[in-house]
Amino acid sequence: MSIEIDILNGDASWPIAEPLFKAVYPRDVVEKLPWGHIKWANPDLRVLIAEPSGGLASHVGIYFRTITWNGHKMHVGGIGGVCTREDCRGRGYATLALEAATQTMRANEAARFALLFCEPHNFPFYQARNWHPFTGEVYAEQPEGRILFDHTAPFVFDLGRAPRQGTIDLCGLPW
Ligand SMILES: CC(C)(COP(=O)(O)OP(=O)(O)OC[C@H]1O[C@@H](n2cnc3c(N)ncnc32)[C@H](O)[C@@H]1OP(=O)(O)O)[C@@H](O)C(=O)NCCC(=O)NCCS
Repeated sequence: MSIEIDILNGDASWPIAEPLFKAVYPRDVVEKLPWGHIKWANPDLRVLIAEPSGGLASHVGIYFRTITWNGHKMHVGGIGGVCTREDCRGRGYATLALEAATQTMRANEAARFALLFCEPHNFPFYQARNWHPFTGEVYAEQPEGRILFDHTAPFVFDLGRAPRQGTIDLCGLPW
């Protein structure tokens, strides 16, 4: 089946992504999760995969952020909001969208590595796609102040060489 793949401005394309998010992450389910109360950043860009007949099938959010790692400033690319509509899973769409996202970060030469956060049941999915656990600590901002962000687990992807340990400060809201 032919598909369409677009990379669009994050805010402008939210109305396209919103129905998929509501289907994959229903509010009443999310509220009960350990990260249900977290305030998230909005993506700068979105990778959107659509089936011409069936609408939006898969989504990956891209974030650009200057973080610190062990106190050193670094520009990185973030990945968040990875989701595929239930009836479209297993067709390689999330894999394709992740590749498009990391290619976009490569094109943005200043991004040193990519960083995402996920739950344990998705560790094998990302590890099979060359993402590596970051075993250090991650801090982030929330409306109440700076917090240790350990609600989901950090994984890194080598654009250049990504750190595997140490202390990362996201210097803003998490994604
Ligand atoms: C995880 C998710 C994005 C995968 O989307 P997808 O478009 O089906 O992914 P792909 O088709 O590219 O890859 C599917 C492959 O990954 C495997 N896979 C999917 N979820 C997996 C998991 N949690 N652990 C290990 N493998 C997994 C599938 O078995 C399939 O393997 P195959 O190619 O050998 O058949 C999708 O299942 C989803 O939206 N889940 C709910 C939301 C979520 O958990 N998102 C991740 C947030 S970090």
